[in-house]
Amino acid sequence: MSELPKSQNFDEKWPRYYQAVAGRVPRNTLLAALERFDNEEPDRKGRFAVDLGCGEGRDTVELLRRGWRVLAIDGNAEAFERMLARPDLQNVELLETKLGKFQDTTWPETDLINGSFCLPFCPPEYFSQLWDKIVQSIRVGGRFSGQLFGDRDDWAKIPTHSHFTQAQVEKFLEPFEIEVFNIEEEDGKTALQEPKHWHIFHIVARKK
Ligand SMILES: C[S@@+](CC[C@H](N)C(=O)[O-])C[C@H]1O[C@@H](n2cnc3c(N)ncnc32)[C@H](O)[C@@H]1O
Repeated sequence: MSELPKSQNFDEKWPRYYQAVAGRVPRNTLLAALERFDNEEPDRKGRFAVDLGCGEGRDTVELLRRGWRVLAIDGNAEAFERMLARPDLQNVELLETKLGKFQDTTWPETDLINGSFCLPFCPPEYFSQLWDKIVQSIRVGGRFSGQLFGDRDDWAKIPTHSHFTQAQVEKFLEPFEIEVFNIEEEDGKTALQEPKHWHIFHIVARKK
């Protein structure tokens, strides 16, 4: 990563990102997935989620609050320092954390893989294996919630990022029944207030 221009070196940017998004509400994709689990089996206890690229915990904290067991995985140690210091962190006995790159990490079978705004940061040479690992690890009837980024996104030109056409994303989702598939494409700003053209696929999908 050290040869990348500063604007593309995300490893350096994450602590500023955590600061910028501190206290934000859980992602809509996670909430949509949780609503579906609750509607299917309102009284079910002890569900298990893997929160990939959990960051400072906006989604992990919500899962724990609802009584889910969570394995939170992130490549940046500061993510966990911030998460564990959050005043709204509850049920911490249900939380396990794992520091590491998700493409190098394993996890057990799960009800939910949540990958909010993190999978595009997987280098392209590892993405297909990572996606296979995600699909394999979700039990039948379990879900994926999260985002993939499109080919018209400004960051698509960054060689270490993974971006896809809509057709490619639809192919990835073949093992799933698609429940939410929202495409967001607009000129906006990043959390660090940098101007950016966004092209995002917001996904909730149930494993067949
Ligand atoms: C944009 S933040 C998203 C954080 C949180 N999920 C959210 O929705 O706000 C991306 C996170 O993914 C982590 N990340 C990026 N690439 C990763 C990788 N290859 N393995 C593990 N974590 C990674 C970063 O450290 C960062 O915390």
